[in-house]
Amino acid sequence: MVEVPEIASNTAMPALHELHCTGCGTVAACGSLSGDLRCIGCGDLYAVRYPQPSAGTANGDNAWLLRDRWKKRRLSSAAIDQSGVWRFRDLLPIVSDPANIITLREGNTPLYHLKRNARQLGHDQLFAKHQGMNPTGSFKDTGMTAALSVAHEEGFRWVACASTGNTSAAMAAYAARAGMRSLVLIPEGKIAWGKLSQAMDYGARTFQLRTDFDGCVRVLAEVVRRAPIFLLNSVNPYRLEGQKTPAFEIAEAMQWDVPDHLIVPGGNLANVSALGKGFEELLAWGLTTRMPQLSVIQAEGANPLYRLMQRGEDRLQPVTAKTRASAIQIGNPASWRKALRILRLTDGFCEQVSEAEIALAKAEIGLEGIGCEPASAVTLAGFKKLQAAGKIAPDASVVLFLTGHTLKDSEYTIEYHRGELLAPAEIGSYSRPIAATRRDSVPLDANADAILRAIDADDTQTEQRT
Ligand code: F0G
Repeated sequence: MVEVPEIASNTAMPALHELHCTGCGTVAACGSLSGDLRCIGCGDLYAVRYPQPSAGTANGDNAWLLRDRWKKRRLSSAAIDQSGVWRFRDLLPIVSDPANIITLREGNTPLYHLKRNARQLGHDQLFAKHQGMNPTGSFKDTGMTAALSVAHEEGFRWVACASTGNTSAAMAAYAARAGMRSLVLIPEGKIAWGKLSQAMDYGARTFQLRTDFDGCVRVLAEVVRRAPIFLLNSVNPYRLEGQKTPAFEIAEAMQWDVPDHLIVPGGNLANVSALGKGFEELLAWGLTTRMPQLSVIQAEGANPLYRLMQRGEDRLQPVTAKTRASAIQIGNPASWRKALRILRLTDGFCEQVSEAEIALAKAEIGLEGIGCEPASAVTLAGFKKLQAAGKIAPDASVVLFLTGHTLKDSEYTIEYHRGELLAPAEIGSYSRPIAATRRDSVPLDANADAILRAIDADDTQTEQRT
């Protein structure tokens, strides 16, 4: 039996974890990894492991104790209790001294019912876990608070990442809070301005390289081998410890049940494995009684996992990635093995969606009054395809994992509503639903009559449509 020690916000936290290689099983001591964080023996990625009960064997007392403790922490005014990541620190034994934790009060994000889409698609139990509601506007904050706190505790001065934008924004913010320096490598001209502006504003040293994301990853691997810089890409196992906590929040919001299905966008493919790890741990602690099905959706132009699964292969073939959902424009995802394990474990699917399907789904999430960035919208587009193929039962509870805020990529949104985003050949059979969701802004004389005439015409059009 594994006891759950009480960890107050001001007492030492037992750092009980070890790192094990997911490829060859080698165990590494904390703080002993090479700069690129890959196993020296087989080159695969590490995962954090800590003492926990084997599946379903924790006693009911432990489960009750943890649920109660996590709920009570929400009422505390201590920063680490207010964080939706560190509130669950009993299952995050990765730092020894809570004073080293760098938090911006991330997590505790909303789970919304997607009423409009549910009605339209005839699928009532459709929800969105909105990670865009984090401090820097993306799910990366939950991972960054975890990994950057470890870097801080280990005494690093510099942290670095290659990024399609969101990781760099989150890393720069948390590094600034910690008084650390941050190095950002991004593919020139291939990330959204909102994200680049964040990295600049939070004081990162930012380099735009004449390559793609995969090229930035290659260059950074050499930089961190040659200099004492802590790598904060999602190959960093501590990132995934933070990114597993939305699984805890989803279960908590569902009265310690899990949804039947969780749908996640796929880029570098770390996030789906982090969430899978979270659900596996809940099960092991007896906090829940089953696993959800986890599925990944990729853009058609950046679909290496989709291809692998279609062909029933066991090795990923990198692709040259091209999609307007720039956050997931990744052709050689580092965490594909971890992702594949979770999809196979939970009987999940990997689906691909077109540029028009992504843009339409993004507009439909916007009309919920929620919005998200393009990469997040692949979840709704993918859900529709899985539903149409009969792969999701009509009464299944489904959670879409929305990874980024709509303001991250406002250029994309404005181009869509102006009708300038998609070429006619891309729109294909989607021209009617796209036209119905477009809301361009109209220049008008500063005159009340003109405005009233215009909204009157709007009302008439809506009546004719319904
Ligand atoms: N959605 C958004 C908004 C992202 O920024 C990313 C990844 C993903 C989905 C995919 O998550 O890589 O774990 O499969 N963005 C990284 C970055 C690569 O640099 O910001 P994944």
